[in-house]
Amino acid sequence: MDSIKNSSPRHILVANAKGGCGKTTVATNLAAAYANVGQRVALWDYDPQASSQYWAEIRQGREEVAAPIEALASFKGPRLRETLSFSRRGSEGCDVIIIDAPSLTTASAQFESLVRMSDIIVVPVMTSSVDIRTSKRFITDLLTHRVYRARPRPIGVVGNRIGSASANYANLEQFLACSGVTTISQFRNTPVYAEAADQGIGVIEMFDNRAARREYRAWHALTSWIDEQTPRKLNVASARPRAVGRKLQQQINTQKNNA
Ligand SMILES: Nc1ncnc2c1ncn2[C@@H]1O[C@H](COP(=O)(O)OP(=O)(O)O)[C@@H](O)[C@H]1O
Ligand SMILES: [Mg+2]
Repeated sequence: MDSIKNSSPRHILVANAKGGCGKTTVATNLAAAYANVGQRVALWDYDPQASSQYWAEIRQGREEVAAPIEALASFKGPRLRETLSFSRRGSEGCDVIIIDAPSLTTASAQFESLVRMSDIIVVPVMTSSVDIRTSKRFITDLLTHRVYRARPRPIGVVGNRIGSASANYANLEQFLACSGVTTISQFRNTPVYAEAADQGIGVIEMFDNRAARREYRAWHALTSWIDEQTPRKLNVASARPRAVGRKLQQQINTQKNNA
């Protein structure tokens, strides 16, 4: 295990040109999922709306009970290059770096910079016809992007806010199969995501919530796929014991009862 102890962190970019498709939801839930299996996680928020940053601040208030995540307001940097070195310094020793991207067009310089630093790209897609159209366009532009083509990395699409069987999503899957892009998981449309966001946690940490538990399989599928794609960088040697999950649950329940 020592041979991989100092391997560099995996940079997971969560991106889509479409606003509101679930980038922050996926980024924060992924961060919680990895932190809970003992990985050292950094969460870089590149969106000036600072939703991930806000989530992480709430989480820091639970530092006694929630597995720690290093959050960085990466959008605050004066210039991209300086921001990146600032972010890197702040995330030394991390196993996983999750990058929450703003809604960017693939033509922007910032998009190019985010793709360049990524080892793997996760694209959340909702199923309205407008979302599917924008997402198809985004994925096509990504696949043909100069920076991507210079070093293609795995792209995983996750369906978000999936209700009953969606013809639109089936259509997207067909399109993706032709492009060689994999669809990994589907997350349901459920209020537990807003609940988790409000509490600075991931649904994977909501043991007492049946709707949250129904989502576990999809999150495990996503983390397993990411781990398969980037096995060399998995820094098992530094794994820490699992988070004190029961205490976190007790804290949340007590807060709810007192509200
Ligand atoms: N699977 C889901 N079920 C229910 N609500 C969701 C789900 N995913 C995201 N949301 C909600 O949709 C809104 C937008 O999601 P967000 O992750 O902030 O999107 P983005 O970062 O792409 O703009 C948020 O209020 C979030 O809580
Ligand atoms: Mg966001």
